[in-house]
Amino acid sequence: MVKHTDKLATNILEYDKYYHKIKNHSHLFQEYRNLWEKASSFEVETSFPIQIEFELSNACNFRCGFCPYSFPKNKLPKGFDIPKKDKIMSFELFKKIIDEGSEKGLMAIELGYNTEPLIFKKLIDCIKYAKQKNIIDIRMSTNGLKLTKEISALLIESGLTHLNVSFDAFSEETFLKTRASKHYKKVLQNALNFLEIRNNLGNKLPLMRVSFIVTEENKHEKNSFVKFWKDRADLIAVQSLISYDNTPENLQNSGNERQKDIVYNCHQPWTRLAIRSNGDIKPCCSIPGMAFSKVNLSETTITNYWNSKEMKELRNILKVGEGYKNSVCKKCIESIENKNN
Ligand SMILES: C[S@@+](CC[C@H](N)C(=O)[O-])C[C@H]1O[C@@H](n2cnc3c(N)ncnc32)[C@H](O)[C@@H]1O
Ligand code: SF4
Ligand code: SF4
Repeated sequence: MVKHTDKLATNILEYDKYYHKIKNHSHLFQEYRNLWEKASSFEVETSFPIQIEFELSNACNFRCGFCPYSFPKNKLPKGFDIPKKDKIMSFELFKKIIDEGSEKGLMAIELGYNTEPLIFKKLIDCIKYAKQKNIIDIRMSTNGLKLTKEISALLIESGLTHLNVSFDAFSEETFLKTRASKHYKKVLQNALNFLEIRNNLGNKLPLMRVSFIVTEENKHEKNSFVKFWKDRADLIAVQSLISYDNTPENLQNSGNERQKDIVYNCHQPWTRLAIRSNGDIKPCCSIPGMAFSKVNLSETTITNYWNSKEMKELRNILKVGEGYKNSVCKKCIESIENKNN
């Protein structure tokens, strides 16, 4: 029996640097992180999610092999696809969610979800609106292709606090394999420019994190990646692969054994929830979690959903490592490679 928690999902995270940088940012930031720690350790059940993840658009300009955007339509994970007319979240819906959140204690938003935020036209307006409504942590993950100097400056000035750039490679050749893109040099330059612009403005935020999912195709570059970014990025994340039903075989075996009997204390429904482009609410941001039954924001409020009997039951089984009692969580947990090595 293997026991782990989703806190192990990232095995290199320079939290010391993170806390050092945000320490003086504001006491609210510290309060928010303290609450996050307590909720993610199942010590506190909040009355509203601490963080909401937004699927601003159900679309991406990349086709990374391990991500369902590269899968044929008939092989997509359950719930992944959204009808064309609802693929773009309306700015009105975004504002409605932030309005409810800012009244009820929402502290953080994440604009990456399982999509590419830089293709969303109103992204900067969203960040500005969230900042104006006192959201403390405004986070985003990008593939970096559209991270031009102009966009970088706008992101920094509009109030973004945390930017992840996904690399999964340390060479053009490997980037082509992992991210199916020939634009490694461009993404690299964009990320370096972002840091230069931020530093020239004298800003500590947004923090920049770079990430690397280990697969058979890139594992030989992991150490060079970490060495290069150690003194450049604020945070480095080396993560395990999550395999879905149709993840290509060659990506699945990264040397980590897949485990079936995992006691997995997932804290996602304790800390956050996700809202899809069409207003559907999900108790977590995982791709298997898209299969949770359909509840739309047109029928309920975030507060009601968060405090529903179903969410409380889900939190209770995840707290004690019994996610396998829920069929969606069972499938999700079985898709995770053993991260204890
Ligand atoms: C789904 S992407 C969305 C944001 C943006 N498009 C990007 O690539 O950063 C968010 C993060 O999930 C990671 N990711 C995608 N597919 C994954 C998988 N099968 N296993 C583990 N992480 C994955 C990406 O590398 C990225 O860092
Ligand atoms: S991992 Fe990100 S960039 Fe790659 S296909 Fe998925 S959403 Fe797009
Ligand atoms: S599907 Fe269940 S175990 Fe997986 S991330 Fe969502 S809540 Fe956690």
